[in-house]
Amino acid sequence: MKAYLDTLQNKPDLSELERMRAYAEKANIPILEEDSMQLLLQVLTLTAARHVLEIGSAIGYSALRMAASDKGRNVTTIERDRHRYEQAHLFLADSCYNRSITLLYGDAFNHVDTLAEKQPYDALFIDAAKGHNKAFIETFTPFVKTGGVIIVDNVFLRGWAAEPDNAPERLQNIAKKVHDFNQWLRDHPHLDTWFHPVGDGLAVSFKFY
Ligand SMILES: C[S@@+](CC[C@H](N)C(=O)[O-])C[C@H]1O[C@@H](n2cnc3c(N)ncnc32)[C@H](O)[C@@H]1O
Repeated sequence: MKAYLDTLQNKPDLSELERMRAYAEKANIPILEEDSMQLLLQVLTLTAARHVLEIGSAIGYSALRMAASDKGRNVTTIERDRHRYEQAHLFLADSCYNRSITLLYGDAFNHVDTLAEKQPYDALFIDAAKGHNKAFIETFTPFVKTGGVIIVDNVFLRGWAAEPDNAPERLQNIAKKVHDFNQWLRDHPHLDTWFHPVGDGLAVSFKFY
């Protein structure tokens, strides 16, 4: 089925993306799974999202995919790991979409003022430290326009979010946090959320006021 799906899905033909994928795989850097990527890009397209904020760039792969899927879209993305930020900088500088992407270095929470200056965003994509998802939503959702969209990756945490008590010991704390976050997000009074079973779980929320 995977091979059949590959013949059906339209993906941008950018050798840069292949180089980035290969680098991420070799360096063991997690990047968005393709199923989740397709859903993310469709949501951005369907909501005509032109101005996107991403928390967690890693090497810039998802930022490049988001920019490449709509020539009118600009993406502001932030990464706190210096080595990954530098790699992202090198990859994006080589890309023909470099003018559509603003790459910032540092912890997103230390850049609230800079990120606020560029608001309102049409969409916020959160793909960073999973234990901080609630704080990311609380801090950055006010910068998203009413009617905008918030997307969060890894809401299943390899299935452990559903049963944190049964998670391996080293994952129990984070599994509990993701479990609690999902319930908090489900009940959020200003966000209408659906949890999609793609990749490692992708939550898509609409900010309705
Ligand atoms: C899963 S990777 C991002 C992958 C990327 N979105 C992609 O699909 O190509 C998560 C990244 O978030 C970064 N990160 C975690 N917490 C952060 C924070 N508070 N501010 C900025 N970056 C953060 C990590 O250093 C890591 O590189």
